[in-house]
Amino acid sequence: ANHLAENLPLYNKKVLITAGPTYEAIDPVRFIGNHSSGKMGFELAAAAHAAGAQVTLISGPTHLENPNEDIKIIRVQSAVEMYNAATDHFSEVDIAIASAAVSDYRPKISASQKIKKSAETMELQLVKNPDILASLGEFKKHQLLVGFALETENEEENASGKLKRKNLDFIVLNSLNDSGAGFKSETNKVKILFKDEKVKAFPLKSKREVAQDILNEIILLLDE
Ligand code: CTP
Ligand code: CA
Repeated sequence: ANHLAENLPLYNKKVLITAGPTYEAIDPVRFIGNHSSGKMGFELAAAAHAAGAQVTLISGPTHLENPNEDIKIIRVQSAVEMYNAATDHFSEVDIAIASAAVSDYRPKISASQKIKKSAETMELQLVKNPDILASLGEFKKHQLLVGFALETENEEENASGKLKRKNLDFIVLNSLNDSGAGFKSETNKVKILFKDEKVKAFPLKSKREVAQDILNEIILLLDE
């Protein structure tokens, strides 16, 4: 009978998902962030849970609610906080999917008091954030590791570079050039690039359907 938990394709699997933007504090009231909604990651979490997995969702700031109380959500603000949460959990999971739009840089100094305006120009010095996904790729043993790429030029070439550099099993390439795809939209048009150089192109779909497609590819790889 298919309703039995042990018959679900991700039964007994632990899945880690990063989602949403990160906020990098400039001072107590200001930050550097981006327009990521977190929707893709939350849809992945819901779909993985529905497939029988034990899901931990590490999310940057978003207004989205937990799709299911059985999903463990760890809410973070900054890339460093997301890095700490992700690396803490990685060794115990079977699958990790990095869908977060992590800020590549953070202010070198986060002022403890609200910065007052003074001169006509001001400079903000930024330092590089840790690459969470690349670190998971270095720590990887048995885990299946999936990343995303958002490119505006040389899409496949850049995405395939990230796939290799970050030691991924596959990367989901999301093109901003395709109408209807992107950060705030409800739909995505993706290509999946695999580490064996195979590429699968998918039509424009809702983020929920894209999440299901991604999980189906993970299930296929686990079955191999
Ligand atoms: N990523 C991450 N930690 C970072 C930056 C990116 O985990 N500090 C992950 C994202 O979640 C995504 C993948 O890496 O799954 C690719 O992110 P992207 O911004 O496209 O690539 P970068 O490696 O940051 O390169 P660039 O922004 O220069 O294209
Ligand atoms: Ca980046």
